[in-house]
Amino acid sequence: MAKLLYNGKEIEVKDGEAIKDYVRELGVPFGCEHGVCGTCQIDIVSGEENLNALNEAEEDMGRDRTHRLACQCKVLKGNVEIRF
Ligand code: FES
Repeated sequence: MAKLLYNGKEIEVKDGEAIKDYVRELGVPFGCEHGVCGTCQIDIVSGEENLNALNEAEEDMGRDRTHRLACQCKVLKGNVEIRF
């Protein structure tokens, strides 16, 4: 079981699961949900190695391992702390 950490909260996420629905509940805004609009930008405070690799949509938008699009992220294992 992986964990998403935000502002003192710990949210359990299944290994390999997308974080979209979890971070939406925390207040991250979403638009297209397909890596096109850039609305769902989040910063990864720690645990970036526990996320899936950047995809082409994120690279095209100039994102990097610690600046991701929440609609494109999955937690593979371990803990990932975010802020937005
Ligand atoms: S919601 Fe549009 S890029 Fe994530």
